[in-house]
Amino acid sequence: MGDRRPYQVTVSDSSGDKQLPILDGTLGPSAINIQRLYADHDLLAFDPGFRSTASCRSAITFIDGEQGILLYRGYPIEELAEHSNFLEVSYLLMFGELPTSAEAQKFENDVRHHTLLHEQILKFYQGFRRDAHPMAIMVGVVGALSAFYNDDIDQMDRVRREEAAVRLIAKMPTIAAASYAYSVGRPIRYPRNDHSYAANFLQMLFGLPSADYVVDPVLAKAIDLIFLLHADHEQNASTSTVRLAASSGANPIACIASGIASLWGPAHGGANEAVIRMLTEIGTVENIPKAIARAKDKEDPFRLMGFGHRVYKNVDPRARVIQKAAKDVLEHLGIDDPLLDIAIQLEQIALKDEYFVERKLYPNVDFYSGILLRAMGFPTNMFTAVFALARTVGWVSHWLELTQDNHGIGRPRQLYVGHPRRPYPSS
Ligand code: CMC
Repeated sequence: MGDRRPYQVTVSDSSGDKQLPILDGTLGPSAINIQRLYADHDLLAFDPGFRSTASCRSAITFIDGEQGILLYRGYPIEELAEHSNFLEVSYLLMFGELPTSAEAQKFENDVRHHTLLHEQILKFYQGFRRDAHPMAIMVGVVGALSAFYNDDIDQMDRVRREEAAVRLIAKMPTIAAASYAYSVGRPIRYPRNDHSYAANFLQMLFGLPSADYVVDPVLAKAIDLIFLLHADHEQNASTSTVRLAASSGANPIACIASGIASLWGPAHGGANEAVIRMLTEIGTVENIPKAIARAKDKEDPFRLMGFGHRVYKNVDPRARVIQKAAKDVLEHLGIDDPLLDIAIQLEQIALKDEYFVERKLYPNVDFYSGILLRAMGFPTNMFTAVFALARTVGWVSHWLELTQDNHGIGRPRQLYVGHPRRPYPSS
């Protein structure tokens, strides 16, 4: 674990010195405990964007951004990607340990038998415009689902908590696939409990009632890998949103709807969709220098989508796994996607460019995931919905952790910069 810093830090102001304790984790930077800063010293900590804030203790996922390391419950993501699968990883994230084969079987069976949606839920889809974005539909439908499971979720009861989490993991593929089916005017397909989690999602998404849909096992494996790589990523914007919503004791399913909303943005989960739009716009390898110049121009809002990360100052380890999977799937399908060539060239040019080197901007998970999803036949507007489906596991794991280690409602303060008190003008 290396050398640790002294036990406390001293903060000085006009009223004198204040001693603040330092907390050590098992890995990663230590944290100054400022919990008593306001109560004891009448001071607040200012950190908009949470660049230096540890918002909670967590034992689920660890990222070393400098080294490009990602661990789920201590296991490196590359090893899990090679040897595990999404449902096993879901169990690991939720419960802290890899399941025995009996536990894995029971967990998978539980998930497979909660995939159906209440028939009333299907009626909600009819209320959306036909051209609605699947993420908009997902925010709405998951929010609506909370109305169906409210009184029976006793958050104080561990068994009921875990049941609620399993239900969500099970229903998310059905909700996501139905969101897409509705948006393109196709009939909504029912889940098939005799299929694996990944294969079931593919048959709901791509199957039609008029023909049998045979799932390609290579594609089922690839989508399972995408789920696994997106399952959790410690205190990112959407997970922090879920934690904050849950800290008030709100219905967990409603909290997941808030996470989906947060994930949708292009700075977060929406980047996978934005990467494909960007690569399509670039169009040819010859146009790459122009795109790089735009990304560097501070007057231009254009950014290289799929590049840069708040935590990673090195290659996102998930990006390398996805890049390889994308190449394998394209080869398996016999597809020669010009966007892959543009992406590879763009990455190579950017990684040698001083602007990107200085700022430590590397490809992130979204840079190649869109190319893989596109090759598998996923429409661009479904990319973020796939991310939301997978991240549901992370969100419920953090919700379960929070219910066991609740520090009360999350309630940040502010540095007020508005008017001082002033009287209402008299007429
Ligand atoms: N293209 C061009 N310049 C960039 C980029 C980029 N993609 N990302 C960061 N920069 C520059 C930024 O302009 C700033 O430059 P300067 O110091 O001269 O002002 C510097 O790098 C630091 O950027 P920042 O905005 O302070 O970094 P951040 O930690 O707030 O933002 C980020 C992280 C992911 C939002 C950002 O890198 C970005 O917008 N990337 C593109 C969107 C993207 O790929 N998002 C997916 C993130 S990974 C999946 C997920 O978590 O959901």
